[in-house]
Amino acid sequence: MALPSTRLNPEPGQAVYSTLSLRFYDIYVLGLSNRYFWRCPTDQIQQKYNAFVTPRHLEIGVGTGYYLDKLSVHSPFESLCLLDLNENSLDATAKRVQRFNPVKVKANALEPFPLEARSFDSVGINYLIHCLPGKPEEKGVVFDHIKEVLTDDGVCFGSTIVQADQASMAASVVMAIYNHKGIFGNHYDTPEAVSAELHRCFDQVNTELVGTVLLFSARKPRR
Ligand SMILES: C[S@@+](CC[C@H](N)C(=O)[O-])C[C@H]1O[C@@H](n2cnc3c(N)ncnc32)[C@H](O)[C@@H]1O
Repeated sequence: MALPSTRLNPEPGQAVYSTLSLRFYDIYVLGLSNRYFWRCPTDQIQQKYNAFVTPRHLEIGVGTGYYLDKLSVHSPFESLCLLDLNENSLDATAKRVQRFNPVKVKANALEPFPLEARSFDSVGINYLIHCLPGKPEEKGVVFDHIKEVLTDDGVCFGSTIVQADQASMAASVVMAIYNHKGIFGNHYDTPEAVSAELHRCFDQVNTELVGTVLLFSARKPRR
């Protein structure tokens, strides 16, 4: 059972996403940081989106909407829901993928989602978990909320930056600075600890460590 999340302050992890910083997000995070700090090519994450997105999709922690915009499938959605605590991220993404008629939901991923139970066949959660405060067993509550809105045959997939032995010196320094500033909250996020939270909530879990990024997919929500 994940610990209650009420003492976790979600503000610092989302405050950095201003209209201005989102303009540089793709180039700085997806272009430079993924390659040089975290050593997980953006293309590899995109492949997961191409593989796992379904017509009824919920995206949590949307940023600029890059991966949804670059999907290889032409017209993938019946319904697309974007959930984020930050209105700038919601607006930027909704504008970018307006061709999919997305619905925006402003909500904290650490609290139960204001969405209908079992209404999505896929849920993407990419680079959000490392922004959340708390230990993995506290922030893992996000997987409890995901499984509530996921259908029995649905898939939850995503990635998160973790503390990994193979982190370069540059990656370790950058991560320490981001944790100090509250932009990241992944000081205790080891691959094992994040996996344990996934296994607590799902019967089928796949994980893969690429550089300092844990890629995951999970099926069969435990009811
Ligand atoms: C690092 S960006 C990830 C963007 C995108 N998913 C990607 O992979 O490029 C993190 C996103 O999560 C959002 N976020 C941070 N904390 C949140 C929270 N507690 N609840 C919901 N969204 C949050 C931020 O506003 C931002 O849009």
